[in-house]
Amino acid sequence: MAQHQEQHTIDVLLEETRKYPPPPAFVQQANVKDPAIYEEANRDPEQFWARAAEELHWFKRWDKVLEWQAPSAQWFVGGKLNVAYNCLDRHLATARKNKAALIFEGEPGDERVLTYQDLHREVCRFANGLKQLGVGKGDRVNLYMPMIPELVIAMLACARIGAPHSVVFGGFSADALRDRINDAQAKVLVTADGGWRRGGITQLKRAADEALRQCPTIEKCVVVKRTGHLGNDALQPGRDVWWHELVQSQPLECPAEPMEAEDVLYLLYTSGSTGKPKGTVHTTGGYLVGVYATTKWIFDLKEEDTFWCTADIGWVTGHSYVAYGPLANGATSLMYEGTPDYPQRDRWWAIVEKYRVNILYTAPTAIRSFMRWGEEYPMRHDMSSLRLLGTVGEPINPEAWVWYHKAIGGGRCPVVDTWWQTETGHILISPLPGITELKPGSATFAFPGIDADVVDDQGRSVPPGSGGYLVLRRPWPGMLRTIYGDPQRYVNQYWSRFPGVYFTGDGAKRDEEGYIWLLGRVDDVIKVSGHRLSTMEIESALVDHPSVAEAAAIGKGHQVKGEAVVAFVTLKEHIQSSPLLEENLKQHVVHKIGAIARPDDILFTAELPKTRSGKIMRRLLRDIAEGRVLGDTTTLADPGVVQSLKQRYGEEAEA
Ligand code: WTA
Repeated sequence: MAQHQEQHTIDVLLEETRKYPPPPAFVQQANVKDPAIYEEANRDPEQFWARAAEELHWFKRWDKVLEWQAPSAQWFVGGKLNVAYNCLDRHLATARKNKAALIFEGEPGDERVLTYQDLHREVCRFANGLKQLGVGKGDRVNLYMPMIPELVIAMLACARIGAPHSVVFGGFSADALRDRINDAQAKVLVTADGGWRRGGITQLKRAADEALRQCPTIEKCVVVKRTGHLGNDALQPGRDVWWHELVQSQPLECPAEPMEAEDVLYLLYTSGSTGKPKGTVHTTGGYLVGVYATTKWIFDLKEEDTFWCTADIGWVTGHSYVAYGPLANGATSLMYEGTPDYPQRDRWWAIVEKYRVNILYTAPTAIRSFMRWGEEYPMRHDMSSLRLLGTVGEPINPEAWVWYHKAIGGGRCPVVDTWWQTETGHILISPLPGITELKPGSATFAFPGIDADVVDDQGRSVPPGSGGYLVLRRPWPGMLRTIYGDPQRYVNQYWSRFPGVYFTGDGAKRDEEGYIWLLGRVDDVIKVSGHRLSTMEIESALVDHPSVAEAAAIGKGHQVKGEAVVAFVTLKEHIQSSPLLEENLKQHVVHKIGAIARPDDILFTAELPKTRSGKIMRRLLRDIAEGRVLGDTTTLADPGVVQSLKQRYGEEAEA
């Protein structure tokens, strides 16, 4: 663990004494206001989750709520359901039939509203299209798309026919896409010609073509015409088909496949502490119950609400809180395609005003950008529709929290700081806005039914006021079931550090009142603008370059991005460092992974600090990069390396 950083974070947080009780007007209308929910859920968590499950549609009711043999969980055993049926058909016999399910705003300003009925029809047509392409139950479908309604339609179409989807964030490069497709052995890829971003076009089809040169399992590629900059000659005959042509003559109905509760709903690749991304496996019943219940209670969702989660669907937050959670609740979910500063820095607030957004869920990194841009942008708009704010993805500093509460929420909206992970499927630590007294910077308490603890190296609960590792002692419905194709990694990664207990990889502190404060990752995962990356992935990308002998990447604290990538590189013999080479290396990382992984700084060094057993000491590199007093250097093979590095880094920083 980066001990100094952690101590610093703890110190800052310890000074935080402000408290925000739920405003009486909010409490009055809240979905949950009785704190007894915690006790009730903890007395019988299975019963608690089963009650939530009863609000959904099951073709066949479950026989047993939970089958638990650590680390293997099965939820709602024997139950049969379909996620698309729950997100669509279930609402069609109600007043929601003609209610907006999705409100889409494209970056150029185009709008589309799909009612539940519309969405149902489009999902059925695309599901039939997938079937026509040969996709059947169990086949994997890869989605590499911009933030447009077709992405949600494709996900639900997959769910409808029982084909697990694997969404790859549109900002990933061709190489990253190729690796994820090949690991999932997907049969079909769905993409678009491009998407709009800051006035330009993201070249998705071009990247997809490059990836597909090395994806032997892909038989067909469906292309949405979004930007319209490609003609028919961009389609590879026999492989590619336009989305609009595929769905044109499809029947408007497609039966929803009754799935076992434990059938796979989707794979989602995420970065861990090795160079190889892992495919987290999420299943049907437990996941749906988890996202359904958390959306309803944490966001205090009402029938009339417009819910806006700003996450890209390429990340888990978009899966759970743009698509599945809101739609399972029959809510109106808003999606926006582009960046917050296009054409101006008030774009989000213009959207809030235009659609009268009630609930806004976003990331600390975005909040810090807005804070830097200044209050004048939100002040241009009437944002009185907002009732509740949320954040996710990284620790939020109290200053940003307070700014969000005041400048965006007008001082009247509770802020729910929600902690969870790709692996957990849904929120696990968060306030309940009608009950919890908030402390800026704390995610507060475990959700009802969740058993979160903070432990020391030996796995013992730490006393109030001290820090340690965040663990989860009890299974929860949306948890990942395994790593696709690598069950051993699932066991090693999550269940071996403390046997029988889920290890989150996060550091945390619990204060005297039991509030949980997240302190960041304790492994080699970093969060750059909320995007999850592994330092090992970046290192593999760097050493893949012909000039590089060795590389170490670290996350360095950054005022807006949370963390920024800094890489230390040793070159092969006879290779000279130069600004041009530095730029080439950064570009190489972009090519291998994507622009999100581009290092802010590359420092060339003759040697890297290593332990006597040859392990690179990233902690020391972090200390150097952040200009801190160096921690323990006694295990270094060559202490001289650090001194010279420190000096060099200081010089570079000045230059
Ligand atoms: C971090 C995102 C502090 C944490 C849903 C976790 C947070 C990782 C918070 C998972 C929060 C997420 N406060 N840290 N409210 N939410 N994190 O898989 O380090 O992209 O382990 O899932 O983000 O990132 P992932």
